[in-house]
Amino acid sequence: MTRLPTARLAGTTALVTGASQGLGRAVALAYAREGADLVIVARRPEPLELVRAEAEELGARAVVVTADVGDPDDVERVAAAALTAFDRVDVLVNNASELGPTPMPYLLDTDPDALRRVLDVNLLGPFLLTRALLGPMLAAGRGSVINVSSDAGVVGYPGWGAYGVSKAALDQMTRIWASELDGSGVRVNSVDPGDMATAMHAAALPDDDPSTLARPEDRTEVFVRLAAGGDADASGGRLEAAEFAPAEA
Ligand SMILES: NC(=O)c1ccc[n+]([C@@H]2O[C@H](COP(=O)([O-])OP(=O)(O)OC[C@H]3O[C@@H](n4cnc5c(N)ncnc54)[C@H](OP(=O)(O)O)[C@@H]3O)[C@@H](O)[C@H]2O)c1
Repeated sequence: MTRLPTARLAGTTALVTGASQGLGRAVALAYAREGADLVIVARRPEPLELVRAEAEELGARAVVVTADVGDPDDVERVAAAALTAFDRVDVLVNNASELGPTPMPYLLDTDPDALRRVLDVNLLGPFLLTRALLGPMLAAGRGSVINVSSDAGVVGYPGWGAYGVSKAALDQMTRIWASELDGSGVRVNSVDPGDMATAMHAAALPDDDPSTLARPEDRTEVFVRLAAGGDADASGGRLEAAEFAPAEA
């Protein structure tokens, strides 16, 4: 595999959380193919190392950081490692996410500690990581933060309480970041990737047939466009990944 001749992200550094599998892996490799260098984050080292090898095969420099984005000390460590390896991170994809207990309980049966953990990973982690990486983006006058959302943050699906609340809050935090950073050159958007055949989807909805679901690799184009700017240089949006056709190879 080689990089695309018309790489849209040459000279860009992107940090992707939850990059060891599913959507995060697909986005990281799409970025590598488009010429970006990477910081890739997840808790388990082995799958992350496999993604590093794939990214390096595509010509990317890839820095691996094993960390739990629900732990503020780990988030600090991620930001420090990224800013040591690269002068700044141009693109941050807050993709790592916690579903909560499965089978997914109704709110009435939701343990407050489980709700807290979901909010720590899905909301506090993105907040802290964005805040930690923002300084150099603002100094450069450019940057793109992409928060991965879900329709569960919009629709009140029964059983999706903790996760749905966290994604709704993440969407609102996206809009507020965007308005506060207006004119700074740093854009903040959220993306709803839609249903995809991943481990998280299988854990949430084990009866769904994965062959009827999108592949994460088919949902990466919006992430590339938001990283590259250009026709997708707006901020404060909530974009549906399924509306962006994959680029021609
Ligand atoms: N799949 C769908 O149908 C669907 C639909 C709507 C939205 N989404 C959203 O899309 C995003 C990606 O989901 P996915 O389906 O690709 O999930 P996935 O296949 O379960 O992958 C999750 C990734 O995040 C990492 N991760 C999980 N918790 C973490 C933590 N606390 N700290 C650091 N890394 C962590 C995992 O690696 P480790 O376990 O090694 O940490 C893994 O790399 C999520 O934001 C999800 O909410 C998915």
